[in-house]
Amino acid sequence: MHVLVSGGAGYIGSHTVLALVRAGHSVVVVDDFSNSKPAVMGRLAALAGREIPLHVFDLTDRDKTDRLFASEQIDAVVHFAGFKAVGESVEKPLAYYSNNLDTTFSLLRAMERHGTRKLVFSSSATVYGPRSKLPYREDDDVPIEAVNPYGRSKVMLEHILTDVAHAVPGMKVALLRYFNPVGAHPSGTIGEDPGGIPNNLVPFIAQVAVGRREKLRVFGGDYPTPDGTCIRDFIHVEDLAEGHVAALEYLERATEPARAFNLGTGQGTSVLEMLHAFERAVGRPIPYEIVDRRPGDLPVSYADVSRAKAELGWQATRTIDDMCADAWRWQSHNPNGYPDA
Ligand code: WQD
Repeated sequence: MHVLVSGGAGYIGSHTVLALVRAGHSVVVVDDFSNSKPAVMGRLAALAGREIPLHVFDLTDRDKTDRLFASEQIDAVVHFAGFKAVGESVEKPLAYYSNNLDTTFSLLRAMERHGTRKLVFSSSATVYGPRSKLPYREDDDVPIEAVNPYGRSKVMLEHILTDVAHAVPGMKVALLRYFNPVGAHPSGTIGEDPGGIPNNLVPFIAQVAVGRREKLRVFGGDYPTPDGTCIRDFIHVEDLAEGHVAALEYLERATEPARAFNLGTGQGTSVLEMLHAFERAVGRPIPYEIVDRRPGDLPVSYADVSRAKAELGWQATRTIDDMCADAWRWQSHNPNGYPDA
């Protein structure tokens, strides 16, 4: 298939571009580098053994989006582009709602007009709110909901995409609910490069390990879990990327217009267990202190992965130690992330 990857220069997008190329698809990337660096494209070309065609523009620009679809026959879209920082979304809700919705509207209009009928969408486990039952299942009878504007933009987009898929003849959508993506390509040449202070656990640990930050602050040591710290379902970004390829191939045989899939491992790991796994990868202790809880964190989150296994024929295979070894290879080879242009 000829696949448009929106946000293909980003963390999950870049790993998915490679997985698509490995699976024999041709890829074109659209990215405005608002939260990624152009240097990733050279790294991708080296890993893929060919240049990846790139269009640099903001997808909220409907004319440019339409012209891209007019200029090449796109069979499917994998849509990552969007704002993703939970805390920032609370400060700037309008920016989050307008960007995350408008990019998707622009793509949907162009897809409808130009006959592209397959869409794989980056959703999030954050659509499972505090009332959902563990392990999280896609067919839980609690409706999806979220507790911050970022998460609510994903809930809204799941509804919008489902409605559009039902209305447009032939449209097929996979809604991929990511758990906690971590790790990097085993080459250590592409990985996660957060701007500013990392919000997420593993990038923060990696920056402490490489000497950019003094110590990890563990948010809460009094949760009702075995070691008192939160439990998450960490998934290797390479497994996640392969999940997108499986979802794309599933869309060719899908019978329902829209279907949600959890992409996780089904295994919970605590914050302290993750820290200790990273210490094993680095080979020395990593300083930390336990501080107050972070508002909005759920004590435990992990997936029921049976639907993805049965219907996508996909399951995660990489371990927590693989995730840490690969994240550390990336961080230690690129202590300051990608170089500026
Ligand atoms: C994991 C655990 C923290 C940082 C978030 C978003 C979600 C999705 C992925 C997507 C928690 C603890 C973290 C630190 C810590 N977003 N922690 N010290 O919160 O599960 O999910 O990212 O684009 O929507 O909510 O992931 O990595 O932020 O936190 O103790 O410095 O690590 O409290 O228990 P989370 P996370």
